Amino acid sequence: MTAPRTPKIPYGGDYNPEQWPEPVWDDDHRLFTQAGIDTFTVGVFSWSLTQPAPDTYDFTVLDRVLDRAATENRRICLATGTAALPPWLAKRHPEVNRTDFEGRRHRYGQRHNFCPSSPAYRDHATAMAARLAERYADHPALLAWHINNEYGGACYCDLCAEAFREWLQRRYGTLDALNDAWWSTFWSHRFTDFAEIEPPSALTEHWRGPDHTAFQGITLDYFRFTTDALLGCFLAEKEVIRAHDQDTPVTTNFMGMFRPLDYHRWAPHLDFASWDSYPPLDAPPTWPALAHDLMRGLKDGAPFWLMEQTPSTTACRDVNPLRRPGELRLATLQAVAHGADAALYFQMRASRGACEKYHGAVIGHAGRDDTRVFREVAELGRELEALGDATLGARTPARTALLFDWDSWWALEISDGPSRLVRYQEVVHAYYRAAREAGADVDVVPVTADLTAYDVLLAPVLHMVKGDLAERLEAVAARGGTVLTTFLSGRVDEHDRAFPTDVPGPLAPLMGVRVDEWDSRARDFVQPVRLGELTCEARLLFEIVLPRGAEPVGTYGTDFYAGTPAVTRNRFGGSGGEGWYVATALDQPGVDWIVRRILTRHDLLGPYADHPALETATRVAPDGTRLHFLLNHAPEPAHLTAHTTATDLLTGKRIEEGEPLTLDPLGTVILRGQ
Ligand code: GLA
Ligand code: ZN
Repeated sequence: MTAPRTPKIPYGGDYNPEQWPEPVWDDDHRLFTQAGIDTFTVGVFSWSLTQPAPDTYDFTVLDRVLDRAATENRRICLATGTAALPPWLAKRHPEVNRTDFEGRRHRYGQRHNFCPSSPAYRDHATAMAARLAERYADHPALLAWHINNEYGGACYCDLCAEAFREWLQRRYGTLDALNDAWWSTFWSHRFTDFAEIEPPSALTEHWRGPDHTAFQGITLDYFRFTTDALLGCFLAEKEVIRAHDQDTPVTTNFMGMFRPLDYHRWAPHLDFASWDSYPPLDAPPTWPALAHDLMRGLKDGAPFWLMEQTPSTTACRDVNPLRRPGELRLATLQAVAHGADAALYFQMRASRGACEKYHGAVIGHAGRDDTRVFREVAELGRELEALGDATLGARTPARTALLFDWDSWWALEISDGPSRLVRYQEVVHAYYRAAREAGADVDVVPVTADLTAYDVLLAPVLHMVKGDLAERLEAVAARGGTVLTTFLSGRVDEHDRAFPTDVPGPLAPLMGVRVDEWDSRARDFVQPVRLGELTCEARLLFEIVLPRGAEPVGTYGTDFYAGTPAVTRNRFGGSGGEGWYVATALDQPGVDWIVRRILTRHDLLGPYADHPALETATRVAPDGTRLHFLLNHAPEPAHLTAHTTATDLLTGKRIEEGEPLTLDPLGTVILRGQ
């Protein structure tokens, strides 16, 4: 199953009319019509309303919300509302509350607060999902199911400990296999009974917090267990929905690059992917873009939904800058450029009370339609209306892939040594950014993905190498492709045990190098690296490379390893394929230099690669029409020469190849090819 079929990009967002008296709903709908809003997410936090007591269900308000939406010709993404417990449930079954990393059993409060292993939670949550599905499966407004909300967090209670032991028994079968995987002979940990195993927490294997563990094996397995435990909650709700409704697509809203959950393990169970985009304040545009592409990669390139973004400002940070005029439109069209088939906000009307009362909303507390934010939302609504179905179902024809692997992310960041300063996302983002700014479309894919469509494979900080991945990467190079990997790759197997071979382990034959030593230094230490004419800066970690077939491309500038290779290239196989090894954390110009050389080799440099603030993205519609998105992230106009003859879908203007093409500050054009 795929995302819901709609005649245009669904536009709207989280709507909580239950917080307001009904006369306010009339104002809401008048304003929604003005703004071209046609879709809501409803019921995300309504459990205490729909089940005010253990044996009392009350759907009168929800009925009115859905019926009203139907009357107004709007569609609903209906949440099951199981992400925030009603107080009575927590009081009656204290074990539904989580036990935290420090071992403290929480009491009622906040949201996203349930223990995933608690039968009481599971029973009540699925009972609610079942009732909702039974009641609304055939409702004319129903467009999609939205299970729970932003799953995340972990629990360390006794129920979870027991569930973890069962999970381990299923995974390893025997204690011998588990002891071997965790290398438990180290520090006298050989387990003789599954009952001896405790969740890794501040009370057991950890010190200085969740990333410092005596046994990486158990901590990694607890991440995997938590992923599966929360997935189990999702699946239980999905199952009861399916019992009443076989056709409506089901999703849950993810959070992009969210470390605690391995979304690749969830992906097969979603009918379509959706996510909430709240990029960090100082993030370059490639940061949300990377998350978009990661979300598109969850379902093998199928379009996803942008389930939440703020129309103006967040409220959860110390400071919450506004989206400047034009930035909302640009961010939305950027999401569409990367595969979003819906554009939804958090939230439609600002809450009057509690911690999100200052969070941006389409309609503010005063309910006005003459605010700047409302005007921009409404203007964008008109544009999306005009765009119709042109982009729906379109796919990205990428020939470059970036491997993204939660296991590698976890293993890298919970490792003692070589460096606590290397951050997975930062390294991955540097390579992604280099490829995107050079104009390449990039698929961000799991390590299990089919790699046959790609000419360029970027696999930075691929710390853990599992299964037949090394052979599949070799196959890319054997047919003439290029594979790049970096420092701290090919270090450990799926249990986080070092490979009993030269570094980079199974990647060594493809890379043609051997690494015996590595020098990890403080953030302010800079090692110059020469790449052709360019001298760039390297930091944090310096692996000392002994070429074993590879040729040096860049060299270190100082210390006893001055003049030795920092970057190498290895010809692999008879078809001109190459393996590139980058042995240190280069700055962005250094990464750009390397990635651009690789892309050039495969003729993948985009036509506007020399315009730093101009982003390009391609989507191919189901009927084969090619759509070229040009997005100007600069606050000044971009003066270009059109690379193709096309029509701009947003203005209807015809553009001739070779003629000047000017984009407004923060402007976008969507070129439909001939
Ligand atoms: C998340 C949640 C919403 C809301 C927003 C605020 O994405 O899903 O309920 O809290 O953050 O930014
Ligand atoms: Zn628990």
